[in-house]
Amino acid sequence: MKEPDNGHRHLLSVTQLDRGRIYDLLDSARSFSEVLSRPVKKVPALRGKTVANLFMEPSTRTRMSFELAAKRLSADVVNFSSGGSSISKGETLKDTGKTIVAMGVDAVVIRHKSAGVPLALTGWADCSVINAGDGMHEHPTQALLDLYTMREHFGKLEGLKVAIAGDVDHSRVARSNVHALKRVGADVLLVGPWSLMPVEMEELGVGITGSMDEALNWCDVMYLLRVQLERVRGSRFPSLQEYARRYGLTTSRWSGLQKKPLVMHPGPINRGVEIASEIADEVEVIIANQVSAGVAVRMAVLYDLLGGDNG
Ligand code: CP
Repeated sequence: MKEPDNGHRHLLSVTQLDRGRIYDLLDSARSFSEVLSRPVKKVPALRGKTVANLFMEPSTRTRMSFELAAKRLSADVVNFSSGGSSISKGETLKDTGKTIVAMGVDAVVIRHKSAGVPLALTGWADCSVINAGDGMHEHPTQALLDLYTMREHFGKLEGLKVAIAGDVDHSRVARSNVHALKRVGADVLLVGPWSLMPVEMEELGVGITGSMDEALNWCDVMYLLRVQLERVRGSRFPSLQEYARRYGLTTSRWSGLQKKPLVMHPGPINRGVEIASEIADEVEVIIANQVSAGVAVRMAVLYDLLGGDNG
């Protein structure tokens, strides 16, 4: 997508990033992860800047890691969630956004249930905007932290075989990951019920299968998506039991594999649905690594947008 021009830099979609910029952000995240391993996990890179976190949908990982990332860069942080705010008195998102920006923030990090809200915000807000997940559209920093985790594990991304399994249609994580993985030359195979498979994905050069066993035997990385119980409705979705049997990472599938792939999950996990609880415990370390990478990657994004002369 073309970056909107309000005089500030934004991260709204992975489609804004070419291969070189993705690698620059991953390299910068690696430098920041070194900062995070020090006894004093803080640098003055964004001293004097203010970051506002507007989370209008639930979040644990993204919200906390953006807050920590900004604080580790010495920025001031204000947090906003719709519960308890003037939105409950009928204030519109546009007026709320303008009010927050009028307090002099340099960047707004926004999560919203509707696709396109971060882009809309760039038209009202005189600051940088970062998409922290908008409806079924995109979650660009999640994709960056996933690529970071894969590169740290395998030492490369090009040629990596990544299966993305589950409720692809509702998943902003899947969309951002497909765009990011294709840009760095990885091979992507989507697996899940046909009723939850967006047809436009084929045009992005990814494979599609309905067989979890085929995907498990092919991939280096099995990226499991959360079944979005809050968004799945009606007949497009089998029962949870049926879903787990056909598309879940079950103990019988796992124990039958000759070569075990790296298992990743953006969280939060539905234990016993997309992954058996025992396997979730076994692969806990890499999922925790994804979460840790989130802070370093979000530091890299904030620094890229607000650091140096960019503020
Ligand atoms: N992966 C992810 O976006 O998690 P949260 O909803 O907890 O932020």
